[in-house]
This record gives sequence, structure tokens and C-alpha cells, in this order.
Amino acid sequence: MAKDTLFLLPGDGIGADITVAVRQVIAWFQAAGRTDFRVVEGLIGGAAIDAEGTPLSDATLAEAMAADAVLMGCVGGPKWDGLPFAQRPERGLLRLRREMKVFANLRPAHVFDALAESSTLKTEVVKGLDIMIVRELTGGVYFGEPRGIETLTDGSRRGVNTQVYTTPEIERVARVAFELARTRAGKVCSVEKANVMESGVLWREEVTRLQAAEFPDVTLSHMYADNCAMQLVRAPRQFDVIVTDNLFGDLLSDLAAMLTGSLGMLPSASLGAADATGRRPALYEPVHGSAPDITGKGIANPLAMILSFAMMMRHSFAMEANAALLEDAVRRVLDLGVRTADIASPGHISVTTQAMAAAVVGELGKSSV
Ligand code: IPM
Ligand code: MG
Repeated sequence: MAKDTLFLLPGDGIGADITVAVRQVIAWFQAAGRTDFRVVEGLIGGAAIDAEGTPLSDATLAEAMAADAVLMGCVGGPKWDGLPFAQRPERGLLRLRREMKVFANLRPAHVFDALAESSTLKTEVVKGLDIMIVRELTGGVYFGEPRGIETLTDGSRRGVNTQVYTTPEIERVARVAFELARTRAGKVCSVEKANVMESGVLWREEVTRLQAAEFPDVTLSHMYADNCAMQLVRAPRQFDVIVTDNLFGDLLSDLAAMLTGSLGMLPSASLGAADATGRRPALYEPVHGSAPDITGKGIANPLAMILSFAMMMRHSFAMEANAALLEDAVRRVLDLGVRTADIASPGHISVTTQAMAAAVVGELGKSSV
């Protein structure tokens, strides 16, 4: 049987550092005989612009589509900020998501006990927090037409973007959320602005209909996006699974990320529809960006990338035991007090990216027997 191919795209900025780190973790699983991946690497974002003149070449896209799973670092940086909009590093990522049709973006916000105190919120508000945001990723205002900037006859300009959702787009992402809820606390909160937007009215109606037809065992509630932002800060543990559109999901997942103490901790999975053989396109990436301020310093937190690899083993390869083993190793490293600068609180000495990866590998080694 052919090996499963894992396609790594380090991207820009700290992407290189965290990719070196996750490679050490992958190497451990390979050496332990727990996985047998063919690992290949490619270019995306600014790195691809510099080498190939485009943020995502057709050849790289084809490799990503052929791979069994893609693990990406992060894209962007000041070097490419001056480029026209359509050529920027972020366009590479957006094209990849769109072409791979990975419409369901899973962004867990999980507070490790050892980090509860590094949240800017009170410990008692966030301790034990475990929520999953399911963000629609290939539609909405990110891709809606018409879009653009036009100059009007009086010389002033007009910028336009379009929020648009169809029944199948809403249904397929809501279905992912309901299915996930069945494996968790059984609750879905659907988030939109049905008080102002027709696309939100449709969203609410379609989610309601789907729940009644197929998921009567899951508890469904609805919330306006602004209220959801407020509730996430006020009482985040009321949530289990949140399902929302592309733009609100972008905002709310950053907000939820910060509840956990650091953006550097949060992995994500983006999944498409399964084909006839059960294989589904999948893209895994940390929620954080390329962090130009700490690029090249070797101090980036690799845990979001490492936890993204855990999500990959769970969602793409049904390797639940491996995923749990890795997540547990991360938990123990944190319990031991190992911290990168972004999650260090007073009293902790912060370690390098490399040392954090080594600590995770060290804990994996202890658990393998
Ligand atoms: C994210 C990012 C991206 C987005 C950017 C880099 C295009 O903020 O993954 O949340 O807006 O989707
Ligand atoms: Mg974002």
C-alpha cells in the first residue's frame, strides 16, 4: 500500500522555525513505528513569491491537492506588504483553502490547566475551557462577488464586498458542527447577524431546519455575533461548539484564542467533503500569524503547529491514540513549567522553539513504553 503523503508548507516568518519543530515530533512518531508518512515540503506565501513569483504556484497547488493532508505554517510579512492586493502572501493561503474546498475550519480553544493563569481573563472564568469554533472558510464576504474598488464620476471612490451564502454552503458546515457536537457536550450555538443581514436570516433558518431534520439529539441555540463576542469574554464556558460564517469566525476565533492565554497555543483543521473512498481534503495550520517581530529569533512557540499535527492524525488518519498521546505530552510539558516567551508568566524561564520541541519529544519518549 502506498504511504500517506503529508505535505508541509512552512510559509514565512516564524513558519520556518515551527516547521523544524514539528518535523522533530513527526520524526519521533515515524521512528516509533506509530506512523509511516511520506513527508514532502513546498513553498507558499512570501517564500513562494520570492522563489517563484507567485504566492501559490499551480505545481504546489497540485501537490497539495494530491497529498493526504497539508500542514502549513503561516504566511505574510512586512517585506511583501507593499505588493498589490492580488499578489500578496495571504492570497496564496486563500487560494489554497478555496481550491482544496476546505469549507469547515475547526478552531478549538482549549485552556490547559497549567496555562489558566496566563489568560488575561480571571482564572475562574477560563479554567477548564474547551470550545470548538467551526468557521465557514470558503464562502461569505471573503469570496463574494461583486467586490472591488471603483472610482465614481465625482472622483471619490467606492469599495464593495459581498456577503453571500447558499443553502448547501450553510448545510455542509452546520453538519460538521452538529457531528462534532455529538462527540462532545452535544451543544451547538449558531452565530450570525440575522437582525441586520438577510444572509444571516437564511443562515439561521437553514441551521434550524437541519437540526430538526437530522440532529434532534443535539441542542441548538442562536446568537448574534456581537452578543457572542461579549458572551465569550463574560462566560466562555457556556459554549461547546460554535458554528459561524467566514468573517465572524475569523474575529471570534481570535477572541477565543486569547482566552487560552496565547495565540501560540491554538491549532486548526480545515476539512472538505469526503470523496467516494472516504478521503477528505484537509489543511492544518496554527491560528497565529507569521510574527515578524520575533522572526529569526528562535523563540516562537511551536505548540500550535505541533497540536495541528495532532489534529491531523485525528481527523485525517483516524489515529486517535497518537493524537491523544501527543496532546498529553504537550500537557505534561506545560505542567513541568516549560514555557516559550509568549506563555511565560513571572517565575518561568522561557525556552527556545527548539527546546520546547525537544521537551515534547522527551515526554513522548516517556509515554511510549
Ligand atoms: C486567519 C487569518 C487569515 C484569514 C488571513 C491571514 C487571510 O486571519 O486564518 O484567521 O483572515 O482567514
Ligand atoms: Mg484570523
